Amino acid sequence: MEQIKWAVNKMPKTADTNLPIMGLEEIKKARTFHESFPQYSKTPLTKLDQMAAYLGVKEVYIKDESYRFGLNAFKVLGGSFAMARFIASETGKDVSELPYAVLTSDKLREEFGQATFFTATDGNHGRGVAWSANRLGQKAVVHMPKGSTQTRLENIAKEGAQVDIQEMNYDDCVRLAAKEADETERGVIVQDTAWDGYEEIPSWIMQGYGTMAMEAGEQLKDYGCDRPTHVFVQAGVGSLAGAVVGYFTNLYPDNPPTFVVVEADVAACLYKGAAAGDGDPRIVDGDMQTIMAGLACGEPNTISWDILKNHVTVFIAAPDWVAAKGMRMLAAPIKGDAPVTSGESGAAPFGALAAMTTMDDYKDLRQAIGLDENSKVLLFSTEGDTDPDRYKNIVWEGKEK
Ligand SMILES: Cc1ncc(COP(=O)(O)O)c(C=O)c1O
Repeated sequence: MEQIKWAVNKMPKTADTNLPIMGLEEIKKARTFHESFPQYSKTPLTKLDQMAAYLGVKEVYIKDESYRFGLNAFKVLGGSFAMARFIASETGKDVSELPYAVLTSDKLREEFGQATFFTATDGNHGRGVAWSANRLGQKAVVHMPKGSTQTRLENIAKEGAQVDIQEMNYDDCVRLAAKEADETERGVIVQDTAWDGYEEIPSWIMQGYGTMAMEAGEQLKDYGCDRPTHVFVQAGVGSLAGAVVGYFTNLYPDNPPTFVVVEADVAACLYKGAAAGDGDPRIVDGDMQTIMAGLACGEPNTISWDILKNHVTVFIAAPDWVAAKGMRMLAAPIKGDAPVTSGESGAAPFGALAAMTTMDDYKDLRQAIGLDENSKVLLFSTEGDTDPDRYKNIVWEGKEK
């Protein structure tokens, strides 16, 4: 069995200039925007009491994004808010003037007209962009990397987007989408990652993800938990992780939780950067074959990387079995706890928590993050069974993929 690898963050700290992107006021705007959607409801925060006792911690909470807007993943929060902020800036408005009813009105359509939103995706982000474009009367073009499944493509095509699977990896699909947007009249790239010179739209996407973090913070309070001691979050390019870490750092400025980032080992660009320790990002390329399709990204989001460098305690590179273990344990928890349908990328952090609390090999990891019987752990199941056949194979048939 391949081992989990981890790196304690010893990277030099920076001026932390990107942290205000996830400021509480900014995220309130994203939350208010999402609340204006007819499809909006808070996704559940499930408390696993029996599991917490079994793992030897005090409390375990898991935010279940399989309920998000009927799309089975959190990603739509980013694309929809970024599109709204883009339309707001093009029409000289503040995004608070553009709730769903206004954005979808004939009047605004006349004012803004129609743009074509380009993006690259493993599935979830593209589906969110296609869904949002469809509702807002805009066009979407989506490129998927080699190895993407037909089910994921069909879910995007259903939303009226032009979608294809390319013979290249995710990061190359991003470059293709950016080039096409550049060459198209009223073409806009809405990508869930940032690079030098492309920062504004990805920062809006991160703010959109903030809605999920903000809900979780409130739901913890409803359970009587003032503050989690540990937050586990998964990463592909790291936009989600930057959003979650940034939001909770701003929410608990005096006493932030310990943050743990979990990546797929074949695409562990953030872990590699942390292991190198000089503060520079590292890139992974090639095919990146993993069941964690949402985490198969090898080039870090540059603005997120700065937030992560300053606030994360440990970066973990997880083999596929970790995600599969997490999926199975969440699907069939201990009697008394509610099950969570958690897909490959959704369950990886829980799998990592389970491994480090139950397997002797990872005692050092548990100690490195100070996990013990007083710990209150928050995790995000960022997707449900977005690939239903693979989900059944892993959870029901006990297969590796
Ligand atoms: C379900 C799921 N979880 C987590 C992530 C990771 O997000 P990021 O690429 O921002 O790190 C993705 C990305 O596509 C995803 O689809």
